[in-house]
Amino acid sequence: MSPDAPALPADIRDYHRWSKHAPQRYAPGPGYLDWETQPDPFRVYAGAAEFPLPLAGDGVPTLHETLHRPAAVDPAPLDLRGLAALLELSLGLAAWKSVMGERWAVRCNPSSGNLHPTEGYVLLPEIPPVREGGAGLEPGIYHYVSRDHQLEQRWKPSPVGVPIWRELLPPSCLIFGFSSVLWREAWKYGDRAYRYGQLDVGHAAAAVRYAAATLGWRARVLPEPGDGLIEALLGLDGQVESVRAPLGPFRRREAEGEHPDLLMLVGASCQEPPIGNAERLRRMADLVRRDGTWIGRPNVLSSRHANTWPVAESAPRLARKEGPGAERLWRPEPLPPLAPAPCSLTAERLIRQRRSAQRYDGTTLIPREAFFRLMDRLLPRRGVPPWDAWPWRPAVHPLILLHRVEGMIPGLYALVRRPEVLEPLREAFAADCQWRRVEGAPPHLPLYLLRSGDFQEWAEGVSCRQEIAGDGAFSLGLLAEYDAALSQGAWHYRRLFWEAGMIGQALYLNAEAEGLRGTGIGCYFDDAWHEWLGLTDERFQSLYHFTVGGPLEDNRLQNQPPYRHLKGRERL
Ligand SMILES: Cc1cc2nc3c(=O)[nH]c(=O)nc-3n(C[C@H](O)[C@H](O)[C@H](O)COP(=O)(O)O)c2cc1C
Repeated sequence: MSPDAPALPADIRDYHRWSKHAPQRYAPGPGYLDWETQPDPFRVYAGAAEFPLPLAGDGVPTLHETLHRPAAVDPAPLDLRGLAALLELSLGLAAWKSVMGERWAVRCNPSSGNLHPTEGYVLLPEIPPVREGGAGLEPGIYHYVSRDHQLEQRWKPSPVGVPIWRELLPPSCLIFGFSSVLWREAWKYGDRAYRYGQLDVGHAAAAVRYAAATLGWRARVLPEPGDGLIEALLGLDGQVESVRAPLGPFRRREAEGEHPDLLMLVGASCQEPPIGNAERLRRMADLVRRDGTWIGRPNVLSSRHANTWPVAESAPRLARKEGPGAERLWRPEPLPPLAPAPCSLTAERLIRQRRSAQRYDGTTLIPREAFFRLMDRLLPRRGVPPWDAWPWRPAVHPLILLHRVEGMIPGLYALVRRPEVLEPLREAFAADCQWRRVEGAPPHLPLYLLRSGDFQEWAEGVSCRQEIAGDGAFSLGLLAEYDAALSQGAWHYRRLFWEAGMIGQALYLNAEAEGLRGTGIGCYFDDAWHEWLGLTDERFQSLYHFTVGGPLEDNRLQNQPPYRHLKGRERL
């Protein structure tokens, strides 16, 4: 499909090409914000029973640094207290912001444009109450409403179904599920929206992994289920049916439907996933269809849909996952333990204080050791979050435009997260790239200097002219092994974005731990960046950019606590 053709993309590669930004041609989007139709960022299911959860307050004592030694945290029981903390510290609200009469919530997980397409569900065994005589939760499927920090029960097993559910989902484990309301992103970003939604899923998955680690729990993305199984288990069957039908004006509710993303197994004793196989999940899906009741009707998110984005809406179908792929799962090689960051904050504090910088000071110089620590935390390590949640071979590599790191030459660097890809990268990149191992870096850190130079202006330019990319201490583009992944099946397109989003989340939190601040950059000129690197084909594609540095605070913004409106809500 040529960039000028209005036809729907034939495959996911076509979608990707079409949704590229270039200096002379941005991916098609509305070009303005139609505030009247702004989608509600909070989904609720009318008619579903509501279960308010206790608030964490400052009740989870685990230090951020301890998260990187998960065996060091005594596992909390899977009771209402643990479940509530898991949800609050992953997808919960972190604050309300206001300026000049406008008020909006920010959450523990970031989101492109703060639009939050990602919805969270939990498949629960019986959850004991916090204290004897209190209320717990019965087994079932629940939707999380971050605004009210409460669960809505979507599915309830019949009396016949309860023992089967119990057998399939052991009492110490839960399944976390994600889906995306593509419309929330498309409203602002048009055809590029699908990419952003997938990045947000990666951020959310890493957020769940970190939140679980604060409780001494494990969490792992389940590689097996196809989209049909996820739809069945999250109650999404039929929600987006008409997206596949010809477009018409009367498709509001369907256009706001949720697309299935992924499932994670979470719990204290879920090291070897007891149900981490397609057969068990299939049995759960059968049970859910047969022996229980679905409750609740999704709210309408926009009063009307003036614009539709058929190209973005076609992408979930083009990248649909039908079932477990043939790809081999992966375990990282052992690496030396991580050097501790000088951070004495609890993980809970750090997770809540994480924000995106609106502007950077353009002067903060990062100590070299801090930069190395940040890069080291992006390497997959056994037993270390978030990478112990990632079942696939790493396929995304940061290309760093380094502006201000003490004792390091400004220039273009590469962190090669899987050694086998070094040669293919060298071969694909421009001939002037030096690939010189960085002296003084920890010996196991595969960090290479490619080009020296002051690339601040270039960083800003290629990031859709956003100053944050040049004013930070460094910015980076996440380069994916695109051809190799897509040759295993179109759905792997999503897997690459999820991995990039997880890298983004690791950067966000660990930047905070170093006294710095990160910002995701979804807007960048794809092929201008590729050309500058010397890439001439689709072996590698850049899927997400990011920047880190010393932030400038916007003093006009007022901050309010996230849950002051929940008067009288119990605390942990
Ligand atoms: C996938 C993704 C892409 C983003 N792209 C940009 C961007 O291009 N420019 C920018 O200033 N912020 C960007 N952000 C930051 C969001 O605007 C920010 O996460 C959101 O406003 C919520 O604020 P918070 O991160 O402080 O919670 C991006 C965030 C994500 C997760």
